[in-house]
Amino acid sequence: MSRFNLEILLGIILVSLTTAILVYYGLNEQTRMAQASESQQARAIEVGAGLFENNCSGCHGIKGEGILGLCPPLNDAGFFTNRMKEVGWSGSLEDYIISTVSSGRAVSTRPDQYAGQGNPAMPAWSDQYGGPLRPDQIENIATFILNWEATALEEVVLEELATPTPSPEEADDPVSRGRRVYLDTGCGGCHTIEGLSAGVVGPNQAKVGSVAETRVPGMSAEDYILESIINPGAYVVEGYPDNVMPRNYSELLSNDQVADLVTFLLSLK
Ligand code: HEC
Ligand code: HEC
Repeated sequence: MSRFNLEILLGIILVSLTTAILVYYGLNEQTRMAQASESQQARAIEVGAGLFENNCSGCHGIKGEGILGLCPPLNDAGFFTNRMKEVGWSGSLEDYIISTVSSGRAVSTRPDQYAGQGNPAMPAWSDQYGGPLRPDQIENIATFILNWEATALEEVVLEELATPTPSPEEADDPVSRGRRVYLDTGCGGCHTIEGLSAGVVGPNQAKVGSVAETRVPGMSAEDYILESIINPGAYVVEGYPDNVMPRNYSELLSNDQVADLVTFLLSLK
């Protein structure tokens, strides 16, 4: 072999070797990056799941299945396929979720089905709109919800809640009437009363009748509960956000309904 040929051969070997090395590292880098973004996504879903359980499941259901009369299902084929068309949203579903959750919804788009009867639809969640969550937390929740798409339940048809027409005795009893207002108004979306509701955004109310006496020195339990409903910012329970409970119950509910609610909550000891 001439010296010239040998040089060409060596050159070819060198180029092939370099190419092979580059391809090898390039592929590896791709896998590494794919793995990194996968584990980042997994982390976002995990964080989002915890935030959803604490802040959203009381209304939208623990599996996103919704509650008729109160909240729409999110783990629902229709949500992933039709909903954006229905509301005329032209962006991505992720943006729709982030935007709706961040600024809340003052008026329900389906008052006949969810949070109707003049109830506030959904409070604002982003701290940019006075809510308790940071934008990155809301992004994690959106990632968690979007992850339902692959396994989304069939189009969810919610059953009418079994709220029988009140008997005459019930209608005469302010505690029963108050319990009904509590359920119909969606207080249970944020508050737990064992056996009745399971919301965890606000304090547990199983014993609110006794707890209320101890909240503000010199204030009766009755006045405290009344004030907490019509003016939630007046006294804020330690450890809870002061800006999540809707502020317009005094407009949405009649004085009689508020009085019945107070009587009902006072009876929980
Ligand atoms: C107090 C009850 C309540 C809580 C708590 C709540 N929501 Fe909602 N949410 C609603 C209601 C009511 C609607 C509006 C329904 C409508 O317009 O038809 C809604 C609408 C939505 C929508 C739009 C659904 C659609 O079909 O257009 C999304 C997404 C959503 N909520 C996510 C969340 C997330 C995430 C959280 C927790 C950070 C949360 N919600 C907490 C009551 C609630
Ligand atoms: C979107 C969530 C949300 C809804 C819906 C909601 N609350 Fe609240 N509620 C809270 C939070 C959070 C607090 C604690 C912060 C504070 O004291 O304002 C609270 C506090 C209270 C307190 C004071 C409890 C205590 O232990 O001192 C009462 C009473 C109360 N809510 C009653 C109601 C009633 C009645 C309704 C329905 C008409 C209702 N809430 C609906 C979130 C909610």
